[in-house]
Amino acid sequence: MAEEKRPVIIYGGSFDPPHRGHTALAAAALSQLKPSVLYFVPGFHTPFKDLQPTPFAGRAALLRAALAEAGLAGRKELRISSFEADQKKVVYTCETVEHFRKLHPGAPLYFLMGSDCLAGFRRWRRPGFILKNARLLAGLRPGHAIGKSPGVPFTALAGRFPRADSTGIRAELFLGGRPAQLHRAVLDRIEKKALYLSRERTLLRKLLGHGRYAHSLYTTELALRLAPAAGVPQQKAALAALLHDCARDLGQAAQNRYCLKRAPRSALTGLMLEEAPVLAHAWAGASLAAEKFGVKDPEILEAIEQHATGAPGMGPLARLVYVSDMANEGRGFSEAGLVRKLAFKDLGAAFRAANYVKLVYAFSGGGWVHPLSVALWNSLQEKKKG
Ligand SMILES: [Fe+2]
Ligand SMILES: [Fe+2]
Repeated sequence: MAEEKRPVIIYGGSFDPPHRGHTALAAAALSQLKPSVLYFVPGFHTPFKDLQPTPFAGRAALLRAALAEAGLAGRKELRISSFEADQKKVVYTCETVEHFRKLHPGAPLYFLMGSDCLAGFRRWRRPGFILKNARLLAGLRPGHAIGKSPGVPFTALAGRFPRADSTGIRAELFLGGRPAQLHRAVLDRIEKKALYLSRERTLLRKLLGHGRYAHSLYTTELALRLAPAAGVPQQKAALAALLHDCARDLGQAAQNRYCLKRAPRSALTGLMLEEAPVLAHAWAGASLAAEKFGVKDPEILEAIEQHATGAPGMGPLARLVYVSDMANEGRGFSEAGLVRKLAFKDLGAAFRAANYVKLVYAFSGGGWVHPLSVALWNSLQEKKKG
């Protein structure tokens, strides 16, 4: 077969991280289509995804590790293209197809994907242009039968391919797990390079006692599960929840020092440090997250600062952390289970319930209650009336 007539395959995706599903699909495409080249094209930021991916160089290295373990390292047809990553903006598949069409004018062009992506294909930008210039090439994934994608012509690869859900894989990684869908070499490299919040977890483990660290992971687990309903990016939810109590196990004097950096001396801060010094850890946590963990995102810092007292006008991330802190699986009291159950049905109602439970607890102690917690309660009552 003349070189130009052999197929050229584009395999686009976030590859964040590359998993067994990716290598299985690539291996099948190589053996069944015998292309002159198969390009992996890691996206700069894939449309419909809500996270900040690991930088291109990091994902390319993970991909090479995965290919080596899958026995594909020496295949000269395989290339990793930086076409999308180089543009530093969202690149649509139609643009990628156009680029490779120009690069290989005479060759049959294929765009490789899992069958789970076919159902959404009509929502992609310029699907007609893509189909005119390239043939879709799909591997069948469990639960995404071909019949579920009516009207989208494609070529099916023979075989069944492993179920692999990148969002679930990332969630497991953020919690320090070793997902079975990842090659061992990929897991080792993730650990070595401290990716997927592994750097943050290592540092946090040094700052917190065993029980508090476990509580931080429980909070993160719930925040990750509720993040889609909250409309919050997965990684942002994980980082805020993981760090929310980062200052909690410092001595009181250190907590107060960090607290004052974030909440400068005022009558209210003075009263808080006097009457309810435990609350200092929330403000201290926000300063510590910025200083020691390098967190710059103001929404993450605000979520950490507001997790203990709450505050009127909290944003979606702050509400998510507030609920996840109070209602996670590690909490022993019965209200936690009730609020958690409610959160999966109605996150707004769970947020109000969490504020109620925390206030009742505070009042039952008979002491001073932070005005921000009361102000949150009042603002929620006003909203109800409005
Ligand atoms: Fe806390
Ligand atoms: Fe907490």
